[in-house]
Amino acid sequence: MTDRAFWEAKYKNNETGWDRGDFSPALTKWLETLEPCRILVPGCGRGHEVIELARRGFDITAVDIATPAIDHMQAMLEKEKLTATLIHGDLFEIELPPFDAIYEQTCLCAIQPSQWKEYEAWLYNHLKPGGQLLALFMQTGAEGGPPFHCDLSEMKPLFDESRWQWPESAGDAVVHPSGRHELAHLLKRKL
Ligand SMILES: C[S@@+](CC[C@H](N)C(=O)[O-])C[C@H]1O[C@@H](n2cnc3c(N)ncnc32)[C@H](O)[C@@H]1O
Repeated sequence: MTDRAFWEAKYKNNETGWDRGDFSPALTKWLETLEPCRILVPGCGRGHEVIELARRGFDITAVDIATPAIDHMQAMLEKEKLTATLIHGDLFEIELPPFDAIYEQTCLCAIQPSQWKEYEAWLYNHLKPGGQLLALFMQTGAEGGPPFHCDLSEMKPLFDESRWQWPESAGDAVVHPSGRHELAHLLKRKL
């Protein structure tokens, strides 16, 4: 099964336990300090965060590999007469001019760990120097996936300090209705 078929089947069978049905409190917190800017949302899913960013006047580009996710988001945008650039495709095949900010909500945990380094490079190359990446690292504590457990002991070398500035504080735990949680870390791309 291709990645696209895998994710499309998840949406068609409503096996979307990751979907909160609303935007994440992690986004609400980030929006206390983030001014409207050009922002990228990879693996956006049904796009609840995309809708909230559009309501607040951000210039958004959202990417997802699954048609039902993109269709759902398009319908929500039309319903509220909002705009965003939606790209249906495999992010690894997409190259865009760098953004001011990236909202990474559990796309990393959806990608095979063998591709994590490639994904980190993709994020780095899609962010302007000094740009912010809000990374929500999924914590499952389990083997296998998706979702793959994003242990901080692996995230630190993946998002290496030579390329990323990490916050001094420990990440906020963002609780999910499924009982799992994510660790939110606001990283900054170094020059
Ligand atoms: C765990 S879900 C998270 C969705 C959304 N961010 C949320 O939190 O509700 C992962 C998403 O990444 C998408 N995805 C997985 N691999 C992808 C790829 N290579 N390119 C683009 N999207 C991808 C899936 O279709 C799915 O919507």
